[in-house]
Amino acid sequence: MTPDAESVLPASHDATSRVERRWATVCTCLLALLVAVAAFTGSYKATVPQARVETTDPRTLHVTGEFIESNLGSALEPDGSVTVRIVGQQYSFTPQCILVPTDTPITFRAASADVVHGFLIQGTNVNLMLVPGYVSILSARFDKPVESNMPCHEYCGTGHEGMWARVRVIDKAEFLKLSNQRRRVTCVPK
Ligand code: CUA
Repeated sequence: MTPDAESVLPASHDATSRVERRWATVCTCLLALLVAVAAFTGSYKATVPQARVETTDPRTLHVTGEFIESNLGSALEPDGSVTVRIVGQQYSFTPQCILVPTDTPITFRAASADVVHGFLIQGTNVNLMLVPGYVSILSARFDKPVESNMPCHEYCGTGHEGMWARVRVIDKAEFLKLSNQRRRVTCVPK
């Protein structure tokens, strides 16, 4: 070993371990950030993962229980909130047009009658998967009247691209007037 190499070696060793320590710090910070994000999304409003698991039987979905046809659509609850019940099946949603009020806590309860479907209201963070056998639940609130499309965004078969519905957010007073006249409210043309 030449005297030159001897003097270079310890210096480069120092530089290497300095870089490694720096990388270890960056990695630890990244890891801590990811854990914090996972903890926050898991606990904040308990939306991810779902707060509770409820099951349904896709074979009897249309015949018995809360997802029978006459019970679908928007229901005004005694506490002033609104529950929207929807069924997804190859290749449509029932009801085809969902009517909800502004400035009201809304709970979506959706189920699939056959395969996995997607439930997405464009322009909002309402985004669910409808998995047969389970009730998909999500809370939402809409500030202003708007009309959005609700396309199925999970490939569910050959008719997938034709599977979509519409969501119409209307003024709260107007919605209350409608729900006084009908037990379940939708915007499906009569
Ligand atoms: Cu239902 Cu894609």
